This record gives sequence, structure tokens and C-alpha cells, in this order.
Amino acid sequence: MSIVQNTLPDNPTKDDLFAHLKIKLGDAIPEMVLYEKAIVAEQIHKLKRERNAVILAHNYMASTLYHSVPDFVGDSLELSRYATTVTADVIVFCGVEFMAETAKILNPEKTVLLPSRAGCSLASSITASDVRALKARYPGVPVVTYINTYADVKAETDICCTSGNARKVVESLKSDTIIFLPDEYLASNIAKETGKHIIIPTALTAGQARTEAVQNSFIGWNGRCEVHDQFSVEDINSVRHDYPDVVVLAHPECKPEVVAASDMSGSTAAMIKYVQNTTAKRILLLTECSMGENIASSNPATEMLRLCSVRCPHMAEISLENVLWSLQEMKHVIEIPEDIRIKAHRAVQRMLDIG
Ligand code: 13P
Ligand code: SF4
Repeated sequence: MSIVQNTLPDNPTKDDLFAHLKIKLGDAIPEMVLYEKAIVAEQIHKLKRERNAVILAHNYMASTLYHSVPDFVGDSLELSRYATTVTADVIVFCGVEFMAETAKILNPEKTVLLPSRAGCSLASSITASDVRALKARYPGVPVVTYINTYADVKAETDICCTSGNARKVVESLKSDTIIFLPDEYLASNIAKETGKHIIIPTALTAGQARTEAVQNSFIGWNGRCEVHDQFSVEDINSVRHDYPDVVVLAHPECKPEVVAASDMSGSTAAMIKYVQNTTAKRILLLTECSMGENIASSNPATEMLRLCSVRCPHMAEISLENVLWSLQEMKHVIEIPEDIRIKAHRAVQRMLDIG
């Protein structure tokens, strides 16, 4: 279940916002900073009403933003689902560009704003022509793309998936072989869960065309999340040495050996749910480090080990200040050519239809 900022009044003043931030973050952030953020957040709430806008935010947003302005926060799957229910005219997306694009794919008639053109190492690892080349090389093999791709890549694929439903999507295809793009580690982790091999094809030289038959395999790509790639088995071993009772949760964008050495692996929402329901006293989250801070105040009985210094530089581009700017200037507007949007919509909707 995602968290909606439902404990704030409808039209919060800076004093309401300061009091709320103090409850959520008073142990971690100085009062003066919280007050400055509350002033900006008050202006955002006012402008949000004037523009008839809704703010959607990913779980990786900075804690002062996460706890002050979103109407809805969640993982990629929850945000995509929520985007289909929005009735406001404007969606301000606090996340990275592929997420804002997904909201636009699902809401062509709405204005979708992204406060900064924030990228993603996975989304930039593959192009639509790479996907076309793979389809030519492995004819008839269904293509699954991770939601962390741009609209033109989604448009070339049969179905999307997120870290929250990848296994379900793969199983729904009932296919011996699947092209699964672009995250090499997510592909390896899901291949292992579903009893498949993973193949990362070698590059073809220019002009060379080849078709290949493979069996019981995932055909992957060498995309990596620059954040999750940094976690190692040594990190886990050293934390377990110091805190033998720690429970380790790893995002499936981590290396397969890191996932294997962890106690649980799941999307950011699955990790939050785990923390809400666990009796464990100590948790280590192997994911973007804002998450621990964002959920700490709601789970006071569990200690989130603050050993993380891995912040996604792209998610970190989004701030309360540029959310305000975004609503003032109505920028950056997400635009997708309609032919690409229609094809990408098919792949996203097919994923959502799986439930
Ligand atoms: P989820 O929140 O869907 O688990 O994805 C995390 C992510 O990769 C965002 O960059
Ligand atoms: Fe992309 Fe990784 Fe940042 Fe997520 S955490 S936006 S996958 S670079």
C-alpha cells in the first residue's frame, strides 16, 4: 500500500507543513531547513490548486519533498496504476523522465510536467534501433521491457514490466524464450526465479545480419542501474558481522550475488511493505538511500541502518524548489509523438491488465 499525504489539511499553511515535517523528520534535519522547506511547500500547494494539478512522487524523492507535497507516492508500478485514475488537468511528476513519460503515455490529454529533465542509466542504455536489431536476430521471440526505458523503446516491445511484477509478466507470456531488456541484473534475477538461462548477445558488426535459435533462455542486454550496481556481497558480510540480527532487503536491480546474499528482494513498495510488517529490529535497505529516511518515521520500532551513501544523481535533481518553478512556468512539458505513444501504450496497458 502506498502512502498518500493524507494527514495534512487540504490547504496547508507553512505552519501546518512545518509541524508535519518536524514530526516526520525532526530527528534528522535541522528546524531551520524544515521551516525554509515548509515555506516553499506552502507555495506549491497554493499553485497546485490554481493549476488543478496533482503531484505524483517516486519513493526515492528527498525526504522533505516526500513528506510535504505529493498527493501520491509509490513505486513505478503503483505510480503507473495511479496515473490511470488522475482527473486533474496537470500531473507534476517527481521522479525521472521515463516515469513522467509513462504518465503521459497513459494520459495523452493531460499536461505532464517534469521539474528537471532527470535521466536514468538504464533508460539511456538502449535505443529503439537496438530493440529492432534484437527482434531481427531472434524472430518471433516476445519482448519484455522494463519500465525504465523511454517511450520509443517501449513502442518496440510486446509488454512492459516493473520490478514489482516482472516475474508475473514473464510467466504470463508462457514462452520458452524471452527478450528481456535492458537491465542485465534484473533479467538474471528473474531468469533464475523462473528456471531460465540468461544470454547477453555479443554485438553484431555493422551491416551483419544473423538469426539465432535459443531455448529456455532470457536474451538480455547489458544495461545497469548505476546506483544498485554499487552494492556488493562484501557490504552485506561486513554489516552482518557488526549487526548479526540485521535483515537485508535488496532491490532486484542489484547484482544476482547480492540478491542471493540478501534475505528478501523486491520493488521499493515491496520493501516498504516488508518493513511495515516485520518484527525484525534492524533492517538494511540495499537501494537508493532516501528510502530509509522516508520510511523511518512511520516505522519507529525498526532501526534502518544508515550505512547508505548511494543517492541516485538523477532522482536527486528533483527538489521542492524546482517543483515550484515547474508549476510557475508550466515546464518541462512531456511530449511524445502520437504514433509512438499509441504503440508504447499497448505495452504499458498490457502490463497493467495483468493486475
Ligand atoms: P521501483 O520503485 O519500481 O522498485 O523501481 C525503482 C527504480 O528503479 C527507480 O529507479
Ligand atoms: Fe535509474 Fe538507477 Fe536512478 Fe532508478 S536508481 S532512476 S534505475 S539510475
